[in-house]
Amino acid sequence: MVRLPFLSSTRGIPEVVEVPRHIAIIMDGNGRWARKRLMPRVAGHAKGVESLRAMIRTCQDLKVEYLTVFAFSSENWRRPKDEVTFLMKLFLRTLKEEIERMHRSNIRLRVVGDISRFDSALVNLIEESETLTAGNTAMNLTIAANYGGRWDILQAVEKMLAASPDAREGFTEDQLAEYLALSFGPEPDLFIRTGGEQRISNFMLWQLAYTELYFTDKLWPEFDEAALKEAIRSYQGRERRFGRTSEQLDAGAGGPDSSDHA
Ligand code: IPE
Ligand code: IPE
Ligand code: MG
Repeated sequence: MVRLPFLSSTRGIPEVVEVPRHIAIIMDGNGRWARKRLMPRVAGHAKGVESLRAMIRTCQDLKVEYLTVFAFSSENWRRPKDEVTFLMKLFLRTLKEEIERMHRSNIRLRVVGDISRFDSALVNLIEESETLTAGNTAMNLTIAANYGGRWDILQAVEKMLAASPDAREGFTEDQLAEYLALSFGPEPDLFIRTGGEQRISNFMLWQLAYTELYFTDKLWPEFDEAALKEAIRSYQGRERRFGRTSEQLDAGAGGPDSSDHA
């Protein structure tokens, strides 16, 4: 049987820790932030980069092990061409400017998503950045770019079938999960969406199965350290039951798999 490095929340009960090990963020509201200030939407994206920079630092200080941020969805190609072009250039410029500093901070960078649609300068820089930081251990920063939760599941099925044609006859969650783009880390403990919308917008559909969801009206460019700490406090007040009852938790039932299926 395939051994995943981290326990799947539907196959066992992951350890619940005080500071989330993995935070996943939909950084939404850049356009509205700019429009409120009578600026073009893209000015909000530029400002959003500053928020991200601060968030990376704060997460590292708090010893969050994995930070995954949604930068561009597989549906964002539907935006006006100028905005898409701006976002691609911003990604390239930001990565160029930040990668050395991230490397010095011992951060490992990964990009998940179908990057084949990006231009070659960006693809090359992404690959170089991933290689440069591959040995880093302080924090795992993952940027989801041209990423979609459904794309992720489909590409995982394709890779799995290519690797083991027998899987056509049937396969398990664990077998499939091994090929998901985020299989290198645990499922997110905390999901944050800024910008007031309460939806997942095709983010990590598989991995969010038991993640605590947090929505805030704050727009991404104004989401700061205090706002992140508030989200973490909210997370700390949740009871993560993973299908069990409160009474079981009160009685100290921590045992992972006693009642687990198959
Ligand atoms: C999120 O901000 C950034 C991206 C999707 C790239 P938006 O651009 O969606 O901002 P709003 O939601 O229109 O305010
Ligand atoms: C989700 O935000 C994608 C990113 C933040 C990259 P959107 O602004 O694209 O989501 P919808 O369209 O409002 O659902
Ligand atoms: Mg939006």
